[in-house]
Amino acid sequence: MFLNLISPPYGAIIKRALEWKMQVSSSGDQRTRRREYGTATLKRVDLAADPLRQFAAWLDDAVAHGAVDATAMALATAGAGGMPSVRIVLLKHFDANGLCWYTDYRSLKGTELAENPFASALFYWREQDRQVRITGSVERLSVAESAAYFESRPSDSRYAAAASVQSAPVANREALEQTVQALRQAHAPDALPRPPDWGGYRLHPVEYEFWQGRLGRLHDRFSYRMRGSGLWDIVRLQP
Ligand SMILES: Cc1cc2nc3c(=O)[nH]c(=O)nc-3n(C[C@H](O)[C@H](O)[C@H](O)COP(=O)(O)O)c2cc1C
Repeated sequence: MFLNLISPPYGAIIKRALEWKMQVSSSGDQRTRRREYGTATLKRVDLAADPLRQFAAWLDDAVAHGAVDATAMALATAGAGGMPSVRIVLLKHFDANGLCWYTDYRSLKGTELAENPFASALFYWREQDRQVRITGSVERLSVAESAAYFESRPSDSRYAAAASVQSAPVANREALEQTVQALRQAHAPDALPRPPDWGGYRLHPVEYEFWQGRLGRLHDRFSYRMRGSGLWDIVRLQP
C-alpha cells in the first residue's frame, strides 16, 4: 500500500492517525442508534393537582419497578458568570417545603449556589420512559438538619466527607486515604464531628415538568407553574 512508500517513521504515523480517526468516527457517529418510547401515556385527567404528589407517585413507580438509583437527580447550577454546570446528587427527602440533598458547601455547586441560589433538578426513569424537571430557588438546610443527617450516615461515608474538600485538587489517592486514616485514629465513628462545610440544601420548586415518552416521538409533556401559594397552572407542552 502507498503508505509503505513513504519514508519511515511518517508512514507509520499517518497509518496510526487514520486508524485513530476510524475508531473515533465509529463510536462518534450515533445517529442510527434509536429506540422507541411508549410504555405508558400521560393525560391531563391523570395529573394530580399538586405536582409534588405527581412527583411522589412517579418516584414510587420507579422504585417499585426496581430502578437503580431512582433518587438520583442531575442538578444544574450556574454561578455569577452564567456558565452552567451539572452533576448527579441523591435526593434524600422531600415534602411540601422542597427537595433536599447533601453535599460539601465548598464544591463547585456550593460556590455557584452561593452566587446564584437557583437550580434545576432532573430525574430520568428509563424503565417508565419518564423524565421530571424541577426548577426553583435553593437554600441551605439548618445546621440541626444537616447534623442529624450526617450522624445517620454509615461511618465510612462520614470519614470520607470529613477527609475531603469536594472538588478541590488532590495530589493522589494515597493523600486522601492517609487523611481518612488520621481521622479514624483521632475520632471514634460516633465522635467524628460534622465538617462545618458539609450539609444539605433544599430546592423550593416554582416549576415542574413531567415528560412521558410516547411512540413515534409524539411525547406527552405537562408543565406546572406556581401561580400562588399552593396553586399551580398546568399546561400541556408540545413534544
Ligand atoms: C450516583 C451518584 C450519586 C451521587 N450523589 C452525590 C450526592 O448526594 N452529593 C454529592 O455531593 N455528590 C454526589 N455525587 C457526586 C457528584 O456527581 C459530583 O461529582 C460532586 O458532588 C462534585 O460536584 P461539583 O464539583 O459540581 O460540585 C454523586 C454521583 C453519582 C454518580
